[in-house]
Amino acid sequence: MLKKKNSILVTGGAGYIGSHVVEQLVKKKDNIIILDNLVTGFKKLTNKKAKFIKGDIKNTIIVNKILKKYNIDTIIHLAAYLNISEAEKSKKKYFINNILGTENLIKACQNTNVKNIIFSSSCSIYGNIQGAVSENKKPNPMSYYAYTKYKGENIIKKNSKKYNYRYAILRYFNVAGASPSKKIGEIESSHGHLFKNLAIQALKKYPVINIFGSDYKTKDGTCIRDYVHVSDLADAHIKCVELLQNKKKSLVLNYGYGKGYSVEDIVNIFKKIKKNCLINYKDRRPGDVAQVYANIKKSRKILNLKPRFNNIKKILQSSINWEKKLN
Ligand SMILES: NC(=O)c1ccc[n+]([C@@H]2O[C@H](COP(=O)([O-])OP(=O)(O)OC[C@H]3O[C@@H](n4cnc5c(N)ncnc54)[C@H](O)[C@@H]3O)[C@@H](O)[C@H]2O)c1
Repeated sequence: MLKKKNSILVTGGAGYIGSHVVEQLVKKKDNIIILDNLVTGFKKLTNKKAKFIKGDIKNTIIVNKILKKYNIDTIIHLAAYLNISEAEKSKKKYFINNILGTENLIKACQNTNVKNIIFSSSCSIYGNIQGAVSENKKPNPMSYYAYTKYKGENIIKKNSKKYNYRYAILRYFNVAGASPSKKIGEIESSHGHLFKNLAIQALKKYPVINIFGSDYKTKDGTCIRDYVHVSDLADAHIKCVELLQNKKKSLVLNYGYGKGYSVEDIVNIFKKIKKNCLINYKDRRPGDVAQVYANIKKSRKILNLKPRFNNIKKILQSSINWEKKLN
């Protein structure tokens, strides 16, 4: 049960994952505030039952005002830039938004009622791994984006005692699919996400699929990832809020399904839906690691949640169905 009294702030709540988190939150609680500058978010993804404020996490005045005015006791911090290739080229932009933005948000928690912080981290902080990776593996960020997430984690951990809050760091693996409500899904197409790209191509008469890198040391040469459905990930956020509000101690958790699929595996599933698709093998993208998938022992035990959508074909179909709705 979520505590009724105080409010929850969701930064990045007009984005893909944030909108799914808010969709679950508003079912349980009425005072949800979204702070999003709409750089890659969309007003139409914001839930009408939540209060939407257009603004930037780097704007100290706005953040302070929100934390006090709405008596925020929990922050779910998703606002970030996340294009891995872009981050390699524009490090400063990512440093300012992801690292300084997080620092600004956390500093604003001083002398407020914020008691719980949930942070969107990423499996990318592990770097390239062999076998399923568990939370106690020492991070080895190999891209600049991953580095910004790693620094974000550290800012949150470091200030937890000083500002008197508990935290849950959720290291998401690759997020895909769309809500069964059919009302929300991924709109932004610049992040280079495989399922979004496939969904866009699914609507074309002559689909063309780009595979970036076919010479990785994996079973078929393409990258291996652990894909999770966005609504299962949203459920994990609600559970983290409940655990923290019930004064459980701070957490660092993977959120994946624990199974790695190669890009080629996914494209082969896609080919059954769109038989005439053309495959283009391209160079590796800067910042991509060969393989990463989750050891889920700890998160399954602590969250005690059964995933509702763990089926790769259905995840792909839900991405495609959402794309059809968007067009
Ligand atoms: N999508 C994935 O597979 C994945 C995997 C691991 C981690 N993550 C993390 O999840 C979070 C959400 O990602 P998403 O896939 O929903 O992307 P998204 O781009 O849809 O969402 C990010 C949201 O943050 C907002 N935003 C960015 N900078 C902001 C700022 N300075 N102030 C206010 N709002 C700002 C954007 O407008 C957008 O709505 C990110 O932190 C990302 O790093 C995503």
